[in-house]
Amino acid sequence: MYGKSLRGGLMLYGPPGCGKTFLARAVAGEMGAKFLSLSIVDVLDMWIGNSERNLHELFEAARRNAPCVLFLDEVDALGHKRSQVSSSSMRTLGNQLLAELDGMEGSNEGVFVLAATNTPWDVDPALRRPGRLDRVVLVLPPDAKARAAILEYHLRQRPIANIDLRRVIAATEDFSGADLAHLCETAAEFAMADSVRSGEVRMIEQRDLERALKEVRPSTRPWLSTARNVAMFANEGGVYDDLVAYLKRRKLL
Ligand SMILES: Nc1ncnc2c1ncn2[C@@H]1O[C@H](COP(=O)(O)OP(=O)(O)OP(=O)(O)O)[C@@H](O)[C@H]1O
Ligand SMILES: [Mg+2]
Repeated sequence: MYGKSLRGGLMLYGPPGCGKTFLARAVAGEMGAKFLSLSIVDVLDMWIGNSERNLHELFEAARRNAPCVLFLDEVDALGHKRSQVSSSSMRTLGNQLLAELDGMEGSNEGVFVLAATNTPWDVDPALRRPGRLDRVVLVLPPDAKARAAILEYHLRQRPIANIDLRRVIAATEDFSGADLAHLCETAAEFAMADSVRSGEVRMIEQRDLERALKEVRPSTRPWLSTARNVAMFANEGGVYDDLVAYLKRRKLL
């Protein structure tokens, strides 16, 4: 009725390990439509012309399966800023991606393209033009509530005793989901090593998590400091407004 088409694109961006790929998989699981996922390795071929053909085939498969979601993970590798790409074959591939998004050789009606990257500033701005990946969503490091859920999730099948998660949650600002998973893994290793040493099986305790906290560092900080520069000097057209708001809230800008 409103003439709104069933095609479109959205790009998830944010620091590594904060759940972009994870979110895309969750979308796939919860959605009635089909979900096709592709990464740069599915596309690249050593022979000239084959990579473009592979990319075309994948889009064709998506069109045949419409309505569906086509997920392009690590889209920066596929659609890198053309001015920065020195190899001509990669540049052709970038152009091919633009053509496929425009549906030059077949209608993209019913094909929704979901893309993810942790370096959106390296992505060809042409990819974000209306009709292509014209919406961006920032996927941030988990806040306290999300950290609680992620920690519980990663500890749910492990033997734990007397753990005060509140302390861990307070000490894990800037930890990504992947860092939190690693923290739980490390704590489990400490308890296991201890059990092997003493010959007596024991549960994972608060001290294991505290020790793990000394070892596991948050991996999102380098990303946040790069992001800060981008937010300050390259927020053209307000694409990074969400990022700016977050950095301000965190007093990082
Ligand atoms: N919201 C979350 N809930 C539970 N686990 C999470 C969450 N976010 C991340 N994780 C954990 O971290 C892992 C890495 O997340 P994921 O691969 O989705 O990150 P990413 O944003 O795609 O990172 P990259 O930019 O490096 O590709 C997941 O496999 C999962 O174990
Ligand atoms: Mg990923």
